Amino acid sequence: MSVRSLGGRFTFPGSALSVNRIGYGAMQLTGPGVLGPPKDMGAAVGLLRDVVTAGVNHIDTADFYGPHVSNQLIRKALHPYPSDLVIATKVGARRPPVGSVVPAVARLELIEAVHNNLRSLDVETLDIVNYRVMEAAGEPPIAEQIAVLAELQREGLIRYLGVSNVTPDQVAQARAIANIVCVQNRYNVADREDDALVDELAREGVAYVPFWPLGGTSPFESATLSAIASRIGATPHQVAQAWLLQRSPNVLLIPGTSSVAHLRENLAAGTLALAEGDVAALDGISREG
Ligand SMILES: NC(=O)c1ccc[n+]([C@@H]2O[C@H](COP(=O)([O-])OP(=O)(O)OC[C@H]3O[C@@H](n4cnc5c(N)ncnc54)[C@H](OP(=O)(O)O)[C@@H]3O)[C@@H](O)[C@H]2O)c1
Repeated sequence: MSVRSLGGRFTFPGSALSVNRIGYGAMQLTGPGVLGPPKDMGAAVGLLRDVVTAGVNHIDTADFYGPHVSNQLIRKALHPYPSDLVIATKVGARRPPVGSVVPAVARLELIEAVHNNLRSLDVETLDIVNYRVMEAAGEPPIAEQIAVLAELQREGLIRYLGVSNVTPDQVAQARAIANIVCVQNRYNVADREDDALVDELAREGVAYVPFWPLGGTSPFESATLSAIASRIGATPHQVAQAWLLQRSPNVLLIPGTSSVAHLRENLAAGTLALAEGDVAALDGISREG
């Protein structure tokens, strides 16, 4: 598998870490509901190897996916890791044996989460750790949690820090404490609540990494996307990713897939150049509802 372009390069601020703008999100490799192993372990391992062989050097994961499953798959498929591979993981949540993910934000829980990631990925230092805010409502202060992670960074367990599922105020709180190299929030062509934040971070050189770039587990459908896609000989999901790449140079993609055919499609989205008129039409999707 080879592609001409993976969307160009991005260097995380204040760092020597540089990645191709098209990466890969490993969450879809776990079992249904992000719980347990995939049906076909061999296929999941093979897909991860395809990802890296195609030139992807940015993989998103979390030890609470599975739990432990996506990290263990990454380790099985790719360890010892290529020197340029950047693995971004998350803390701030844990997955109990029954039920869904719950917040895990106390100092000891954060320390344990970092050590779980070190163990399951089999590394001495994590490349990027995102603090994932889990609270569904309200806007909890995050300074205490970022301070704990900054401490672990000083101890050499973490290279760089990011934040996820955060408001602009929470981003500012985190940036007052540490060098935050990326923000991972929900954003796509149909969901543009973070427009101003994307622009603000672009001015500061901070990466904006949208989760659900294709709309999540039930990828979105839109007549506008389909019309543009069929005219330019692409798929609607490729157009949605090309729109994100053109949206701002600090946007990094981590589409999730368990399908080799979809992986090929997603990697090839970097070769599309959308015309100004098409971008304007796509900008209208978020107003379509
Ligand atoms: N920070 C956070 O809170 C957070 C939350 C959610 C996700 N994430 C991260 O973000 C990554 C991306 O999010 P996501 O995986 O939830 O959602 P997504 O990338 O928006 O969409 C994934 C869904 O789209 C399908 N898909 C992928 N490529 C496709 C294509 N070319 N054509 C048609 N369907 C396609 C996948 O199914 P197939 O498997 O069949 O391709 C899957 O159902 C995750 O993998 C995870 O690493 C982070």
